[in-house]
Amino acid sequence: MKVLVLNGPNLNRLGKREPGIYGSTTYDDLAASLVAHGRKRRLAVEVRQTNHEGDLIGWLHEAADEGCPVVLNAAAWTHTSVAVGDACAQLTGLLIEVHISNVHRREPFRHHSYISAHATGVIVGLGVRGYEHALDFIADEAQTDIE
Ligand code: DQA
Repeated sequence: MKVLVLNGPNLNRLGKREPGIYGSTTYDDLAASLVAHGRKRRLAVEVRQTNHEGDLIGWLHEAADEGCPVVLNAAAWTHTSVAVGDACAQLTGLLIEVHISNVHRREPFRHHSYISAHATGVIVGLGVRGYEHALDFIADEAQTDIE
């Protein structure tokens, strides 16, 4: 089963970006580990990142058309983008919202999400391990590893 793991702005800077908040794992290492983890759970994981909002909206439309599950860290657009929220509203598969940091312990502007109302569930503050938990949830729901 195809799963899209979609990442918004600045997440390509993981490892270099505010490591005290986001940790030392690089984006490339994270992407490789999620593909490998997906393979173990019989998920065909595609990890993508963009700094351009239209790219993310296009990928969400792709997921909507295909009905495939999405793991989404929309980063700052989480808190600002009605358009990303509207694209999430069109999804029919599972949508797991992930944030590396615990946004609720941070500035008030990070407490609101345009995505959460459309999400199956939300994982915040578990570091990059949150993405793996999201994939495990999707695999468990789909029972992909049961013949
Ligand atoms: C983030 C939290 C957002 O508030 C922030 O803008 C990010 C990353 C996280 O993963 O913790 O870029 O989504």
